[in-house]
Amino acid sequence: MAVERRPLVSGNWKMHHDHIEAVHAVRDLALRLEREDVARVDVSIHPPFTDLRTVQTLLEADGVPVALGAQHCNMHERGAYTGEVSPQMLARMGVRYVIVGHSERRTLYAMSDEDVAATLRAVLGNQMTPICCVGETEAERSEGRMAERVRAQLQSALGGLPPAQLAGMVVAYEPVWAIGSGSPASPRDAEEACGTIRETVKTMAGAQVAESVRIQYGGSVAAENAAEFTAEPDVDGLLVGGASLEAATFLAIVRAVRTTVRGKPGAAARTPARTPG
Ligand code: PGA
Repeated sequence: MAVERRPLVSGNWKMHHDHIEAVHAVRDLALRLEREDVARVDVSIHPPFTDLRTVQTLLEADGVPVALGAQHCNMHERGAYTGEVSPQMLARMGVRYVIVGHSERRTLYAMSDEDVAATLRAVLGNQMTPICCVGETEAERSEGRMAERVRAQLQSALGGLPPAQLAGMVVAYEPVWAIGSGSPASPRDAEEACGTIRETVKTMAGAQVAESVRIQYGGSVAAENAAEFTAEPDVDGLLVGGASLEAATFLAIVRAVRTTVRGKPGAAARTPARTPG
């Protein structure tokens, strides 16, 4: 039986919007957001660390139904790690989702597969949900090694996790060549990779867990292409970079995703108001 998977649209601000700009961005989002937008879709925003407190206060004060997210954190709880932020600090601030192992962290800051695995566990240990990023480089894709790469990253990151924890996680398929390039994967390629991710989770933790894990696509997502991705059966949401900075554009993506919820397999199970027959 198909399991209900609520789509998750996440806005990764990266190193954009200082805390003053963040106030404007969140106010704009709050003004435009309608309850209906989040009735069937979860939304998170991931500002830089210096904005988190401001954004949290605004979201809470206005009861904005958007989850607070972070872009990264350290794997340790506390200690002599100059310049780092611990998962405990994020959890205490009400952060719900933490992006772990984004390709920019992996390539620019030498985050290894082992670091990704340890950070994932630290995030889970603090009752937050990791968004674990995987994806192949352009060279790996041209050598036909997408599936091999994605499987290896998943096995290293998720291996040994209790199935219950794995089931609640989010995995983001982000082909490195599509990030910030303006050249997204085709919906078909995204589905193939997300299907590979679900298959891999199945071999690791069984069919039930694989059916529960939410899988996002990320890489040059825009309002114009968003619905094509989430219309695919294994794509349960989007990780959005550049197009998440403007509230209007980000909301257009959320609304595009909203239109695809009904059309997906298992959607009938989500709409009890429509009695069969
Ligand atoms: P992009 O970034 O949407 O700007 O391509 C996506 C990401 O890095 O998460």
